[in-house]
Amino acid sequence: MDGLRRLEYRGYDSAGVALPDGGGLYVEKRAGKLGNLDKALAESEAVPRDATVGIGHTRWATHGGPTDRNAHPHRSADGRVAVIHNGIIENFAVLRAELEATGVEFASDTDTECAAHLLAAELASGAGLTEAMTRVCRRLTGAFTLLAVDALDPGTVVGARRNSPLVVGKGEGEYWLASDVSAFLSYTREAVELGQDQIVTIDRGGITVTGFDGLPADATPYTVDWDADAAEKGGYEHFMLKEIEEQPTAVRDTLRGRFTATGEIALDEVRLSDQDLRDTDKVFIVACGTSYHAGLVAKYAIEHWTRLPCEVELASEFRYRDPVLDRSTLVIVISQSGETMDTIMALRHAKEQKARVLAISNTVGSTIPRESDAVLYTRAGLEVAVASTKAFLTQLVACYLVGLHLAQIRGVKYADEVAAILDELAAMPEKIQTVLAAMDPVRELARSLAGVQPVLFIGRHVGYPVALEGALKLKELAYLHAEGFAAGELKHGPISLIEDGTPVVVIVPSPRGRGLLHDKVVSNIQEVKARGAKVIAVAEDGDTAVVPHADEVVYVPVVPTLLAPLLTAVPLQVFACEVAGALGLEIDQPRNLAKSVTVE
Ligand code: G6P
Repeated sequence: MDGLRRLEYRGYDSAGVALPDGGGLYVEKRAGKLGNLDKALAESEAVPRDATVGIGHTRWATHGGPTDRNAHPHRSADGRVAVIHNGIIENFAVLRAELEATGVEFASDTDTECAAHLLAAELASGAGLTEAMTRVCRRLTGAFTLLAVDALDPGTVVGARRNSPLVVGKGEGEYWLASDVSAFLSYTREAVELGQDQIVTIDRGGITVTGFDGLPADATPYTVDWDADAAEKGGYEHFMLKEIEEQPTAVRDTLRGRFTATGEIALDEVRLSDQDLRDTDKVFIVACGTSYHAGLVAKYAIEHWTRLPCEVELASEFRYRDPVLDRSTLVIVISQSGETMDTIMALRHAKEQKARVLAISNTVGSTIPRESDAVLYTRAGLEVAVASTKAFLTQLVACYLVGLHLAQIRGVKYADEVAAILDELAAMPEKIQTVLAAMDPVRELARSLAGVQPVLFIGRHVGYPVALEGALKLKELAYLHAEGFAAGELKHGPISLIEDGTPVVVIVPSPRGRGLLHDKVVSNIQEVKARGAKVIAVAEDGDTAVVPHADEVVYVPVVPTLLAPLLTAVPLQVFACEVAGALGLEIDQPRNLAKSVTVE
């Protein structure tokens, strides 16, 4: 239950456990929050409290609604096996029909239940649990992590993974299997990384890893360097508040040791040569959600510093539109978790087309960095709140570093600018701290506007992705209609949404920046103001030109335009968090959302 609690942040709508019990299996499962399961367990006299093996699951519904019946674990009809599953078994309809034809009655609407019945059939034919799991996995298509226990072998648990995360934790005479290390971080930091298509068996003899082909497989041990305190709220009411405040540290950690005294930038794991990077003639950035917004910012920096064309694409769209890729394309995949299925599939597509892949990820040993040719890790530490904050800022930092690295090895055009940017990056943690220290007026404003919708966010240049991110945060947390637009696009449609009092948050570019961007945005402010909008401007210190037109101005320190998102995103995070708080909503686990989406 403690492990499940630690994984609550991933998002779920029902939960359950199974424990082998002297020849039988004790299973308890409930729709809703873990509290419902906790209560059922507390009230039950049948819980086998001396069991040494157990499996537990929090489910985010895919096939079959979030009910008690559909909650995992699922049992085989003979009651011998219990199974939990993440992912989607794509050929479940065929398997279900086949099982039903042999007389098996299904007790749920899930794809998972097939696995329980198939395992039971293998066990009945004399196979052990590991052998049964191996045979069943060969028959399944799709993505899955499966764990199973057998009533007649109560000291054993068997796990399997294909395209869905599973890690092993190793303690003193005890083991854990979990979707991510945060589930067991307070017990051990020693972990074992499993590869794709592997089966892990844990019993009194220890841990054995084999492939779906039944042959022994390598499993790489590693030590997790995340702090166990990361999984605690540390005095904050919500993880999100804590993580917003941790941003200066996360940015500092991500920059630490990344460039030499002479300014050369190094990646973490590089399985491609400098020549490969020099040969690059096009960059794609592929990601989902907040990570996609980091990619949108990166495009401005990478194109400017490297003069390479750079496209940014949602991972879920990328491979289906047949993008033009070859050996000289660099695909940068950004994923906090390293396990987002849409991004994994995009990465594989890029590799099949011979493109080189560079990953930016926060999770060492996760699938995306493992399968990429080069990696730069963000060092945000464990991010628990579903709505991403500190991971976003560190992704921006990593994108800047990758852009500068590419510029350096390709022959820098703006050598002075690059050197100055490195100095500016080093000063960022303090500037983020300055922004955080001045958030009281933003909180007050958020409380005064809580529940008002729509809320529009507009920006130009790198302020545009920040506007998208500000709107996403408000949607995710406060369930309000919020939209981000390119400020210049406003007059081509969205301006019709503005009524008297409609809040419009405007990310104002620096008046010192290139071109006439600042003045153009000030004109956009006047356009919305003339139609009754309540304008909240996020502007650079000393920018008095916005004052006559804006209802509220939030100032952030002066930085080079390309780096401004590291500051301008912060008030928008605080705003969304405070609105959700004022509306009494669940901040760390917004409805319907999952932290790590391991299905396509
Ligand atoms: C989910 C989360 C978002 C996150 C996105 C991408 O939708 O709720 O907060 O930005 O996945 O996740 P990744 O781990 O790939 O960065």
